[in-house]
Amino acid sequence: MSRQDYPDYESKSYELYLRGRNVLPNAGSRSSIQLSPYTLFLKSGQGKKVVDVDGNELIDFNNNYTSLIHGHCHPYVVEAVNDQIRKGTAFAFGSEIEIKLAELLCDRVPGFEQIRFMNSGTEAVMNGIKVARAITGRAKIAKCENAYHGSYDASEVSLAVEPTDLSRGDPVSKAYSAGTPQGVLNDVVVIPFNDVPNCRRILNEHGPELAGVLFDPFGSGMGRLQPTQEFIDLLDAMRDAHGLLLIADEVIAFRADYRGCMDHFGVKADITCLGKIIGGGFPVGAVAGSRNIMGVFDGGSEKARLPHGGTFNANPVTMVAGEISLRELTAGRIEQMNRLRQMLQSGLNDIAQKNSLPLAINHYGSCLNIFLSESIPDSPIVRADEELMDRFHVACLNHGLFIAPRGMVALSTVITEEDIAAALESADAAMRDVAAESG
Ligand SMILES: Cc1ncc(COP(=O)(O)O)c(C=O)c1O
Repeated sequence: MSRQDYPDYESKSYELYLRGRNVLPNAGSRSSIQLSPYTLFLKSGQGKKVVDVDGNELIDFNNNYTSLIHGHCHPYVVEAVNDQIRKGTAFAFGSEIEIKLAELLCDRVPGFEQIRFMNSGTEAVMNGIKVARAITGRAKIAKCENAYHGSYDASEVSLAVEPTDLSRGDPVSKAYSAGTPQGVLNDVVVIPFNDVPNCRRILNEHGPELAGVLFDPFGSGMGRLQPTQEFIDLLDAMRDAHGLLLIADEVIAFRADYRGCMDHFGVKADITCLGKIIGGGFPVGAVAGSRNIMGVFDGGSEKARLPHGGTFNANPVTMVAGEISLRELTAGRIEQMNRLRQMLQSGLNDIAQKNSLPLAINHYGSCLNIFLSESIPDSPIVRADEELMDRFHVACLNHGLFIAPRGMVALSTVITEEDIAAALESADAAMRDVAAESG
């Protein structure tokens, strides 16, 4: 693996950062790629590796924040997409490939009878909420404190509240972005994740006004903390008691198992929001549910109860990439990725011990989250290990390993045991640097 020395003010990345800043806020288009003092610019990705504009090679354990389940430019994705590009990239009528991907998802997941496609996980969550509102005629939704669900304003409420604000019993609805309307805050009831007695109390209090409860069976934004069975059972009971809908955000969670995440809990969500891997590396979102629920989108020749447009919805390029990617994501490959994640996790534990660094790891399926602290923190915004983690992240980049800044690791099907060994070597070198700097 190549060795670089970030920050390098002679680098091409820095030059592009300065140039980019003139025309792009902070030289980019997504908050999650920010890096201080400047973001890196990548030139290419192939399989498990990416190369930056300075020629540094990184083994990619970020995989575009979990969406590249088969790594970069997998030959079967490239072939399917090239073939489709020659046939047309966007049509203002349906295409058979859209039916094929929907059939594949419906065959795979019990409870999926119909699918509606869109272009991002954010849109999937937004539409999931709109479906619940359209069906129940109620405006409010409940969501878990600190849970990340993309950048729709209702689903951002109380994202990243600080530990001092964490109100175990009675969370308040807090704006995440400047300018969030008070009306949005009023319509979102915040519940404390996995806190069954307080959730029961809050949901019983607000239940009759709630269209649905939005939750992530993967704990995104919360260090991949998984909900307990008891918590999911409570949500299930609240659905029956108050006629609200369960909205499962499986935008990331879906990759964890062959039939997604909820199968594991034995509870069927009314609405499932999908994204990331179902687009085979291309922009995608989807809402899935029973024919009855999904009927809100279906007005026949009349206006639907929930009209839903989108110039690029179900564009054939995304659909072919998604179809081949999901078909190739067999139960065996998922098992293999999960086994390699386990191998990585035990290796990381060993090297942290060797370097006398604290380490806590949360995992699910083929993803894990690293914390350089004795335990998993409560809040995604202020972490006890923040400074250490920032240094570790940069040290990993400098030793050729690309993980997410907050320690998220997502494997892909093209990663092998040799890659895990190489990643552990890089992580070991990075931990040595961090330990040395900490004195
Ligand atoms: C759980 C969850 N929901 C929704 C989203 C939003 O998806 P997108 O970035 O495609 O809008 C994300 C993105 O990371 C996510 O992790």
